Amino acid sequence: MKILIIGSGGREHAIIRRLAADSPAPELHAAPGNPGIAQLATCHDAAVTDLDAQVRLADRLQPDLVVIGPEAPLVAGAADRLREAGHTVFGPSAAAAVLEGSKSWAKEIMAAAGVPTAASVTVTAREQLEPGLDRINPLADVPYVVKADGLAAGKGVVVTEDRTAAITHAVAVLTAGGSVVLEEFLDGPEVSLFCLSDGTRVVPLAPAQDFKRALDDDEGPNTGGMGAYSPLPWAPEGLAEEVLEKVARPTIAELASRGIPFVGVLYCGLALTSRGMRVIEFNARFGDPETQVVLERLASPLAPLLLDAARGELTAETDLAWSEDSAVTVVLASAGYPAAARSGDPITGIDAAEQLGAHVIHAGTATMDGALVSAGGRVLSVVATGEDLEAARSRALSATEAIRLEGSHHRTDIARRAAADAQAASEEMNA
Ligand code: AMP
Ligand code: GLY
Repeated sequence: MKILIIGSGGREHAIIRRLAADSPAPELHAAPGNPGIAQLATCHDAAVTDLDAQVRLADRLQPDLVVIGPEAPLVAGAADRLREAGHTVFGPSAAAAVLEGSKSWAKEIMAAAGVPTAASVTVTAREQLEPGLDRINPLADVPYVVKADGLAAGKGVVVTEDRTAAITHAVAVLTAGGSVVLEEFLDGPEVSLFCLSDGTRVVPLAPAQDFKRALDDDEGPNTGGMGAYSPLPWAPEGLAEEVLEKVARPTIAELASRGIPFVGVLYCGLALTSRGMRVIEFNARFGDPETQVVLERLASPLAPLLLDAARGELTAETDLAWSEDSAVTVVLASAGYPAAARSGDPITGIDAAEQLGAHVIHAGTATMDGALVSAGGRVLSVVATGEDLEAARSRALSATEAIRLEGSHHRTDIARRAAADAQAASEEMNA
């Protein structure tokens, strides 16, 4: 089987790494790929936003399947263009990807489908802002949640107890011509669950947890994601089934009833609050860096699964096999990320990191004069597995610390609490 993957980040490297492990291994092509991907796939010169070049490439390669990784080409209509040209595509149409591209439309779909989510108000003009904040947070006793309505690479959301900061962010978004979604604050741990859909049927992958804030202990600004782990030993039993029943199936059915079949990954970002599960956001693609840990644990072959979804042939019985191991990833980010990421710094120590038992996924890298350099905010995603979360996280962390990139930063607390809680629980059981 021949597969073309569109994208250049850590998520696409992880997808390709997992596809390369299938037996028989598919023939893999990437556009544009990155230096890590180039070790596993043939990379082609077509930018993530150049839909014409993607169609020309697919016409020339004639792959059995095209997988579109990032949200930008999906929202721009890459899947539509490729399908019109006769290709089999894993990834939603532009119309379906609006679920990620517009938070206010996602809210409308959730309301119509009866999906539990935070109460919200959409604000399109400055004078609606204060009344909106008063309505969503009348007692000002919990943080304000202010979201840019459109795509913002995970950086459009501000959660703050400071009303002035909430207003400043909202005004900045409005001034730039966007609209703003004000949301009720959701307490409780977050879960990312990827649900594969063929337009009708839905198959969930294993839940993961992402760490959105830049710094340890959830301090600092929101980012695209600084680390992730799977499984979630603390998660309630039957979580995936509950998400399927209350969130994924009703959403896919609502879209289908509007003539918008969703083919691809419905990423359900959830908060498990004291009042029950709520959707924080939908994305129309695999999450990054959660994919790095979820696919690391997937023991079933990936290519047939994506192909079945793309062809509308997922079966309800699709029963996936998962490794018992835990997987943890730590993201190494460049100096200045997320505010203003610096590029072009040399990266060394990847071999040393891999000798410590981790593998290193490339997220924002490039080669310059034959040397590997940073080329983006999130540069590498260091993945390790272990018999439990503690083993996986300590391996991922020491491997990350073996890598040299001037000015870089990473979190040291990815999966720390879950690992400690799991250890305490097993000691209690053995006592
Ligand atoms: P989003 O881009 O909507 O996923 O938001 C990014 C991050 O902001 C989420 O992963 C949460 O950590 C936080 N966040 C978003 N919405 C809320 C909310 N309603 N309550 C609390 N935190 C939120
Ligand atoms: N890690 C969050 C995302 O992919 O949107």
